[in-house]
Amino acid sequence: MPKPLSIVFVKAAFVLACGTLLSGCLNLIDPLGPVGKGPQPAPPRSAPPLADKFAWGISTASYQYENPDVKPGEKECFFTDWDIFITQKKAPPKGNALYSWTQFEKDLAAIKKIGLTHYRFSIEWARVEPQPGVYNEAAVRRYVEMARRLKEAGIEPVICLWHFTFPDWLTDKKNPGNSNWLHPLARARWNTYVDKMVRATSPYTKFYAPQNEPNGQITTAYIVAQWPPGMTLAFGHYWKAIDASTGMFRDAAARIKAIKPTAKVLSVEALPWWERAPLDPGGLIYNTMLHGNTDHLDRIYDVCDILGINYYYSQAPGPISLFSGPSRRGHNFTMMGWRIDPGGLYKEIKRVGNRYGKPMMITENGIATPDDDKRVWYMQNHIAAIGRAIRDGYDVRGYFAWSLADNYEWHYGYKALFGLSRMDPKTYGRVFKPSAEKFAAIIRANRTMKSVSAIPPQANFR
Ligand code: BGC
Repeated sequence: MPKPLSIVFVKAAFVLACGTLLSGCLNLIDPLGPVGKGPQPAPPRSAPPLADKFAWGISTASYQYENPDVKPGEKECFFTDWDIFITQKKAPPKGNALYSWTQFEKDLAAIKKIGLTHYRFSIEWARVEPQPGVYNEAAVRRYVEMARRLKEAGIEPVICLWHFTFPDWLTDKKNPGNSNWLHPLARARWNTYVDKMVRATSPYTKFYAPQNEPNGQITTAYIVAQWPPGMTLAFGHYWKAIDASTGMFRDAAARIKAIKPTAKVLSVEALPWWERAPLDPGGLIYNTMLHGNTDHLDRIYDVCDILGINYYYSQAPGPISLFSGPSRRGHNFTMMGWRIDPGGLYKEIKRVGNRYGKPMMITENGIATPDDDKRVWYMQNHIAAIGRAIRDGYDVRGYFAWSLADNYEWHYGYKALFGLSRMDPKTYGRVFKPSAEKFAAIIRANRTMKSVSAIPPQANFR
């Protein structure tokens, strides 16, 4: 007797659904087109100069640290696209952050005490150019002063010219798709801004990072709507933003070298380690994530002296990890649900080293946790993974912890605790957690790449 048609349909639909879900390994669906192959043939890798000094730093960002110190109505008052996001209730309020604008000396005292050789901070474009073409010269001078104070203390400033936030005048409220990278004023104004800030800070600064994680920002802004202008699956805009931002990066690199030929240009990209998840329809999510790790860097690596890896976690991106993500807990996860995986850092260093053949630095690495023993364990194991990569012939020249103090963590507000210290709300001083002392001890004991290559992992955490 022939089977009723409905049963056949249900079975066929079931088989199709399972097939689609399980086809993660088949790698069939990639709405952004095939991921680039990278430079062909791959450039030869530089060998690690083992006797060279290893750079020990901490990374921070203007928006997450600075207080505004200006009031609405004052001509220096400025707003960013993230402030607009906050007023739209798409992100928690920032308040006065860590007062680093008015209390930079507190940061400096802490940095000196830890014994850093490098310190990465960013310039708030909106602060120095609150209106198109109108500069706040006092703010420009303050940033120069920060670089000078660091340099005089024997610490290399690493200046990032854009860390996620754009001046609000690059937001097109009527047509959000034309905002930020894609605003008609963006490129010309960026070039003037970069020129001005590099000329002003170059007497004290050797390292410039034109952009922080443009790859992550563009993916979250145009694919998953978590970042301004908040668009979903806007693949056309994604590519336009990649083109615009890489063009602006290359302009900045050229200007930096023209102003100071001895300067070093750093890329800083968000580079988690991605693994295939079985429940990923046609590899759709995996492929999209892989684009994030390659599309921007492929277009700018050649104008960089050092490739910066921001590494926090690994993930098998699929429906399960994406939806359960923030709620995952346990000793292998951070308080944000990120999977702790120092081995992923080792693999990412190998991938970047083999693909681009350039010297690297870990420009951000850190953990959000209320448990500082866990932070020490996380840090020690990630530094040990770098050591292993150096032993295996990969040229990694520095490590920057994220971050100096608990700070404003974008969508998480002040809930995600990334700091090696916390701010005393009365004195604004940075109060060290044990991890700051531990970091200081690691720095004191390991001055060269050779020494870092021998740092052992710390086996157990409870
Ligand atoms: C960013 C920081 C951020 C950190 C932790 C990096 O993606 O550069 O601004 O606070 O990760 O999420």
